[in-house]
Amino acid sequence: MKTKPLEYQSNSEHTIICHNTTALKASHPEVRKLKRHSAAQSAHGNKIWRSSFVLIDYLSTYPPELEATILEVGCGWGLTGIYLAKHYAANVTALDIDDTVEPFLRLQALENNADVTFQLGDFARLKVTDLESYDTIIGADICFWDDLVEPLYDFIKLSLSAGVNRIIIADPGRPPFWALCDIAVEHLNGEVLTRRIDKPRKTEKFILSIERK
Ligand SMILES: C[S@@+](CC[C@H](N)C(=O)[O-])C[C@H]1O[C@@H](n2cnc3c(N)ncnc32)[C@H](O)[C@@H]1O
Repeated sequence: MKTKPLEYQSNSEHTIICHNTTALKASHPEVRKLKRHSAAQSAHGNKIWRSSFVLIDYLSTYPPELEATILEVGCGWGLTGIYLAKHYAANVTALDIDDTVEPFLRLQALENNADVTFQLGDFARLKVTDLESYDTIIGADICFWDDLVEPLYDFIKLSLSAGVNRIIIADPGRPPFWALCDIAVEHLNGEVLTRRIDKPRKTEKFILSIERK
């Protein structure tokens, strides 16, 4: 059983609460301390992106079953996976291509007394055998470059063929995301919806949801 050191107690100036999950802001002293000793993140894993808050809100309406096995792709600081581990006892693997995000993920998980397993890797290199144990795959703001569209589409197809039941990707609505939505809706029966939240930030994002037929 982990105990939370005193220095990790919540401070509203430096924390955001989203569905009873605490996010430490980049301004939090412990985050700043990590940043001082970290190399720069290579692919935008340098904060908790707002799509995470919207994805958490969506998952609060459409939660996984208790103790589901979940892969969070492009986890960055991993708040969505932490939310699922904390509130639904999900077995979460948080995958990112950038190893510098891991200490930030661990800090956020510690703050929430949640267990999440970090895996360093590129989603595009995962094989069927790596994916077949997952019930659900989630990702927030992971389709931000044009050259991510095709690998993400192939990854989604592979995941479905491996038996993954549900893939959910939240995004602010960048052009590569819409390109992914177009092919996922046409070929994989994907659905796209708009999700607005007022808390912890007023924002509107988009969700691509694909279910195995
Ligand atoms: C914009 S950030 C979003 C981070 C987090 N999901 C969030 O919402 O706060 C994109 C993340 O995707 C990761 N990433 C980019 N390409 C990846 C790949 N091919 N495989 C795994 N992770 C990747 C980056 O390192 C980064 O952490």
